[in-house]
Amino acid sequence: MSIHIGAKEGEIADVVLLPGDPLRAQEIAQRFLHDPVCYNRVRNMLGFTGTWRGMRVSVQGTGMGIPSISIYVEELIREYGAKILMRVGTCGSLQRDVGLYHLVLAQSASSDSNVNRRRFRGLDFAPWADFDLLSTAFQVARERGLPVHVGGVISSDTFYQPDPEEWKLWARYGVMAVEMEASGLYTIALREGVKALTLLTVSDSLVTGELTSAEEREKGMLSMVEVALETASR
Ligand code: HPA
Repeated sequence: MSIHIGAKEGEIADVVLLPGDPLRAQEIAQRFLHDPVCYNRVRNMLGFTGTWRGMRVSVQGTGMGIPSISIYVEELIREYGAKILMRVGTCGSLQRDVGLYHLVLAQSASSDSNVNRRRFRGLDFAPWADFDLLSTAFQVARERGLPVHVGGVISSDTFYQPDPEEWKLWARYGVMAVEMEASGLYTIALREGVKALTLLTVSDSLVTGELTSAEEREKGMLSMVEVALETASR
């Protein structure tokens, strides 16, 4: 057991999918995994292990924001030996051509968070995705005919922005979308020498103000999880 994960040694797979919402973790486990077993209920941050086409896979909820995902990622890697970590989440589009339900693969993650400023003593670190996972996921998405974008995202500490115009600065520099966790995942994975990728479905657009319906978000989420699982298996 680690502080925030109640699994015994060996109960978590090398490959871990990371949705923010613990009920999403349960849903992914029930829909995609064969014989899923729940290994964590601490704080209701559900985690499951099962198999997908014979490959052992875990799905662990992370909560929202860099501080929360960082706790789970640190413990998954250091205490349970996770080797491939893939965040599956949603994002807000910052570009007109990044439409609702499109798939965004986060090549890098800028941030307005102070976490890496502290870590790097005021210097700037540019967290990036594992290239093998990124290129494989792109290929899988293309093969499936999904609308897919690869580029930078911004991991924000605030869903409700103090300055509602601030996103335009990131957009001006080509950042594709805003979410809240990729920078934390990538930074820790890079330090620990394991592979990480963030896959995102566009759930809203800051450019047009459009929002997706729950039903359509669900569909986008399912095809994104398939891309993640297929990527891990290649
Ligand atoms: N901001 C931050 N995170 C998000 C958003 C957003 O607009 N949409 C989905 N995740």
